[in-house]
Amino acid sequence: MLALKLAALLALATRARAAVCGTFPEYEDMPIEHATRFNLTWARDANGGQFAKIDTAAFGTPVSYILTKCASTSHFATSHPGTNVFTVPVRGLFLQDTVQVALLDELGAVDALRAYADTQYISSAAVRRHIRENNVVDVVMTTSPFYGTDYALLATLPGIGAYVVNTYGHASTVTQLNASGLDGKVLLIDELSEGTPLGRAEWIKVMGLVTGKEARTKFTQIVVLYESAKASAMAQSTPTVWWGGWYLDTWYPPVDNSFVAALLRDANAQPITSAPLPFADGLALAKTAEYWLANGNGWGALVDAMRDQPAIADFASVRADKVWDNDASVADTSSANDWFESAIVRPDRALRELAAITHPELAVLVDEFRYFRQVKAADAVDSSDDDDDDDDGKGSTSTGERAPPAKVDDAAGRPILTGLSLGLTVGIVVLGAVLIALVVGLFYVRGRSLGAGAKVELTALAITA
Ligand SMILES: *[C@@H]1O[C@H](CO)[C@@H](O)[C@H](O)[C@H]1NC(C)=O
Ligand SMILES: *[C@@H]1O[C@H](CO)[C@@H](O)[C@H](O)[C@H]1NC(C)=O
Repeated sequence: MLALKLAALLALATRARAAVCGTFPEYEDMPIEHATRFNLTWARDANGGQFAKIDTAAFGTPVSYILTKCASTSHFATSHPGTNVFTVPVRGLFLQDTVQVALLDELGAVDALRAYADTQYISSAAVRRHIRENNVVDVVMTTSPFYGTDYALLATLPGIGAYVVNTYGHASTVTQLNASGLDGKVLLIDELSEGTPLGRAEWIKVMGLVTGKEARTKFTQIVVLYESAKASAMAQSTPTVWWGGWYLDTWYPPVDNSFVAALLRDANAQPITSAPLPFADGLALAKTAEYWLANGNGWGALVDAMRDQPAIADFASVRADKVWDNDASVADTSSANDWFESAIVRPDRALRELAAITHPELAVLVDEFRYFRQVKAADAVDSSDDDDDDDDGKGSTSTGERAPPAKVDDAAGRPILTGLSLGLTVGIVVLGAVLIALVVGLFYVRGRSLGAGAKVELTALAITA
C-alpha cells in the first residue's frame, strides 16, 4: 500500500519535473507565416523532453540550434552533433545589433542583455536604463582597430549564455568567437535577410523562445495592426514618392524587395524608381515626386542642398511642404536612430506613419510621429538666414515642427505683458480692477498661445491702450 503510494507520488514528481523542464505548451504548433529565413520544428529528446530546433542559414550554409528547457543537454552531442544547444530562457546575452536590442525591448526582456559593442548607438530608453543600472559591459574596442568588438574582453566576461550574431558580421564574428572557444554559444538572428517587414519582425518568435517571453500574441497583434494600416492605405489613391538622398554623386532609392520598398508598397505609395542613379538623372526624376521621404541628410543638408542645387527648391515635394525625414528619434549625442531599431520590430508603427504621411485622409492613424519629422523648406531657409539668433527649430523636437511657441513667449512675451499691465494700472484709473485683470488675463493667454506673432499684436494693443 505504502509502496504504491510512494510510486504514485514519485510518478507525479517525475511528471512535474518533466512539465517544468520539458515542454513548450505556449509555443507548440506556432506557425511561422512571414519569415522565410528560419524554420521551427518540435521534437522529443531521448528523455522525452520537448525541444525546439531552429534551422537557419548564414551565407547559404545551414546552421541549426536546439532550444530546450532542460539544464542537462549533453545527450544532444550524440543525437545532434555540431548543433549549438541552449537551455532557455538564456541568461546573459551578447547582442550585435540594434534590431536585436529592439526585440528584447518589445518582449520586455531587456534584463537579458549583458554585453554590447558601442552602446551609444542604442535608442531604446529601457535598454539604456538597464545598461546604466546593471553594468552591462560595453565591449567596444577603444584601441586600434577602433569601434569594433573587443572579442578578447568579451571572452573574459562571465555569465553570457549566448552570443547573438547577424548575417552581416557572421563570418568574422564566428571566427573571432571560435578563437576564444565560444562558437558553441553562437546564435544567429537573421532578420536582416528577410524580404518583407513582417518577415523581419517574425524573428521576435525566436528571441521570445530564447528569452522565455511571450512572442506569439505580440506578433499576431503586429500583423493585425500592419494589415489594418495597409488596408486603409489601399483604399486611397497612390501618390508618387522619392525615398532617400544621394551619396557623393549617386542617388540611392530603395531597391525592389527591400524593407523600405515593401513598406512603401504597403503604404500604397509608389517609389519613382528602384535603381541607383547618377546625380543629374536622379535630380530630374526626384523633382516630379509628390513626396520626398527620408532625405536622409537632415534639416541642415536640405538647406545646403537648396543653396547648392537650386533645382531642389523646385521639387514638387519641397514646394508643397511634403518632405519628411526619418530622423525624428535620433539621439543628440550619437547618431543612434530608432528607425533602424524599433521600426524593424514594429513595422506596423512604421507603416502607419508612412500611410498617414502619404495620405492626408489617414492622419488619424498617428497620434505622435516617432520616426518621421516634417522638414519644411521655408523653415529651413529661415533658420539658415537668421544665424544663431534663435535657433529653436533644429533638432529640438521630435515631431518635426518648430519648437513650441511657449518657449518664445517666455523670453519675449512676458516683458511686454508686464509693461502693458503697468501702463493699464497707472494710466487708466477709471477702469475697475476686474476689468484690468480680465484684460491682462486675456492678453496673457493670447501671448502664450500665439507665439512670436502675438508679440507684434500685443505691442499694437499696448499702444492703443
Ligand atoms: C525550411 O524548410 C524548407 C522546406 O523543408 C526548406 O526548403 C528551407 O530551405 C528551410 N529553410 C531553412 C532556412 O533552413
Ligand atoms: C569554429 O570551430 C569549429 C570547431 O573547431 C569549426 O568546426 C568551425 O568550422 C569553426 N567556424 C569558423 C567560422 O571558424
